[in-house]
Amino acid sequence: MPLARIYEVITFYNFFKLTPPGKHKVAVCMGTACYLKGAPEVLKEVKTILNVEEGKTTKDGNFYLDVVRCLGCCGLAPVMKIDEKIYGKVKKQEVLEILSKYMKEG
Ligand code: FES
Repeated sequence: MPLARIYEVITFYNFFKLTPPGKHKVAVCMGTACYLKGAPEVLKEVKTILNVEEGKTTKDGNFYLDVVRCLGCCGLAPVMKIDEKIYGKVKKQEVLEILSKYMKEG
């Protein structure tokens, strides 16, 4: 199979990554409900604290930041998810506390 065909497939589906994902996947919802309830502020705070852009992994490999369109719990907007845990009604001021639970020690 030509290498170009493999590349075509892995770059088409977002389930596949060309670089290893971080240990913890942070997903910030930017769906309509979350957007209107302050998700842009939450996302900005996550990016600032982790010093990482959407679709990228932090330099220490601990976090991968993803932006999603709806996590299915709009009543809790704004919502962010770390690994399998949902955090609802997230305020910008709470982001550091939430992320610190997943930060490496030392
Ligand atoms: S829009 Fe964010 S959970 Fe639905």
